Amino acid sequence: MFKHIIEPGLHLQILEKRHAQEVLNMIEKNRSYLAEWLPWAETTTKVEHMEGFIETELHRFAKNNGFTSGIFIENQFCGCIGIHPINWNDRHVSIGYWLGEDFQGKGIMTKANKAIHNYIFDELDLNKIHIQACAGNVKSQTIPQRLGFTQEGILRQYQLLNGVYHDHFVYGLLKEERTNLGLEES
Ligand SMILES: CC(C)(COP(=O)(O)OP(=O)(O)OC[C@H]1O[C@@H](n2cnc3c(N)ncnc32)[C@H](O)[C@@H]1OP(=O)(O)O)[C@@H](O)C(=O)NCCC(=O)NCCS
Repeated sequence: MFKHIIEPGLHLQILEKRHAQEVLNMIEKNRSYLAEWLPWAETTTKVEHMEGFIETELHRFAKNNGFTSGIFIENQFCGCIGIHPINWNDRHVSIGYWLGEDFQGKGIMTKANKAIHNYIFDELDLNKIHIQACAGNVKSQTIPQRLGFTQEGILRQYQLLNGVYHDHFVYGLLKEERTNLGLEES
């Protein structure tokens, strides 16, 4: 239920508690790869952690304040894309994402982004999307670059990862800028 089909064999679905074990299995399999950039991957070790996260995200959705969606390829969970808390006054939002390592290199996250961007602009009628990526996380930076975002700035020493401060690059896309990017297609 409540799924968005991106293309045959690829869909988004808001996470429900029944997905908790499958998501945890993916995190366990990819813990060190994910933890390089996402510190929560180290501490998400029990199904109760994932159930709690999903419950929080469903509450956020009910409050019209964003959500986390699973990404499924051939009905297999492969990663997440989420809309962070929404600034309704200024009508902007940021998004975050991750994929299991084996699912990289297929364009899955670029397609998931396009679908979420359309939802943000067309259905939520927001004006701007931000994506933030660690300065060393080239794969993550490539997604907003590929989708026509502008790099708007650098947040210096923004994230402490394994005892080292890392800069974050901030990318932005305005609603008026996405018209020539083919974002309407999926
Ligand atoms: C960030 C992350 C999602 C990027 O994954 P990704 O696979 O590079 O991104 P996509 O799914 O959009 O795939 C793009 C790749 O598929 C290729 N591709 C194949 N078909 C494609 C298509 N139809 N459209 C776009 N790209 C396509 C691209 O050429 C690119 O390959 P390349 O990296 O060899 O150039 C992934 O590396 C990840 O989850 N990392 C760990 C967690 C993380 O860093 N999250 C972000 C924190 S800010």
